[in-house]
Amino acid sequence: ERSLAVLTSGGDAPGMNAAVRAVVRRALDCGFKVYGIYNGYEGLVSGGEAIRPLGWNDVGGILPRGGTFLGTARSERFRTLEGRRQAVRHLVTLGVDALVVIGGDGSLMGAHVLAEEWPSHVEALEKEGLLGELGKVPPSLDVVGLPGSIDNDLYGTDMSIGVDTALNHIVRAIDDLTSTAASHQRTFVVETMGRHCGYLALMGALGGGASWVLVPEEELDLRWHHKMIRAIEKARAIGRPHQMVVVAEGARHPDGLPIRTEELKKILADRLGIDVRVTVLGHVQRGGAPSAFDRILATRLGVAAVDALVQAGDRPLRHMIGLQKNRIHMTLLMEVVEKSQAVGQQIDQGAYREAQRLRGESFVR
Ligand code: F6P
Repeated sequence: ERSLAVLTSGGDAPGMNAAVRAVVRRALDCGFKVYGIYNGYEGLVSGGEAIRPLGWNDVGGILPRGGTFLGTARSERFRTLEGRRQAVRHLVTLGVDALVVIGGDGSLMGAHVLAEEWPSHVEALEKEGLLGELGKVPPSLDVVGLPGSIDNDLYGTDMSIGVDTALNHIVRAIDDLTSTAASHQRTFVVETMGRHCGYLALMGALGGGASWVLVPEEELDLRWHHKMIRAIEKARAIGRPHQMVVVAEGARHPDGLPIRTEELKKILADRLGIDVRVTVLGHVQRGGAPSAFDRILATRLGVAAVDALVQAGDRPLRHMIGLQKNRIHMTLLMEVVEKSQAVGQQIDQGAYREAQRLRGESFVR
């Protein structure tokens, strides 16, 4: 009988519960013994109560819930060799030879490293006599990653788990802000999350009908605020006195310094003589029940993760399961991590042009 463990790691993302549920139930169906690891890699390093068997009913009712019932963490201890050795000790002791990690690029990197180091940790633990009288020690660890992050900054999948829900929060917030903005004839600067990736800001601006969007992927020239001011002036001239400016938290000046919302507010207020307010959306973007899309995505990916483990047989598995053009797609974890750095640069240029063009400027002659 094979044993599988599952954990969620890094920032939580709506839909992680749906993914855990799918992994657990599919694995039980395929004859695995299943363990849940609480609080991400931190729990894996701690062992004990943090690693518990999961049955069919333990994941009942979690599908529609936000966050992750397993808990999550950004673990410092797992970054050390000693921490990872403890992690291996706990997995070996339970006979676990398959690990499913749901998280962002740092978390997926951790899974890759653990699988690579596995034999050397096992050898060291055996030498130190720390494995006791274990019957069979798994010679290798299969690891499967699932993309879980609202940022949509991972190579190898069109969408990560949680992105759609976050986007819905953003669009709803822009809608809500628009009614108060319109009443007061105000302009709002709305800051979205996304770390170094502009996906949420860009798609939020498209979905919410914003007048201007600033994303980290665009290298701004020194006159960038003139362009923004001009666009807003023109939009005001055609009879829309309230505007939305969306700025990604990772957006930068040409010299690399972050663009601050308060600074944008001041530029707009001073140059246009208008009333400006700032709303930083913050962690509401990560909260609440997952959208239908995220539940379905997470469920499909979770099932596919276990199927990949079953089908791999003796071949080592170090892959992320993603969705590309609505089909399950496997990418080596190493490739995901390496190429994710560049994903930001690959922002949808078409969507970007549309977002900037739909501000209405072309109607003003
Ligand atoms: O990666 C998800 C994310 O929400 C980013 O968009 C954001 O920069 C970061 O996590 C915030 O981290 P924390 O929840 O630790 O404040």
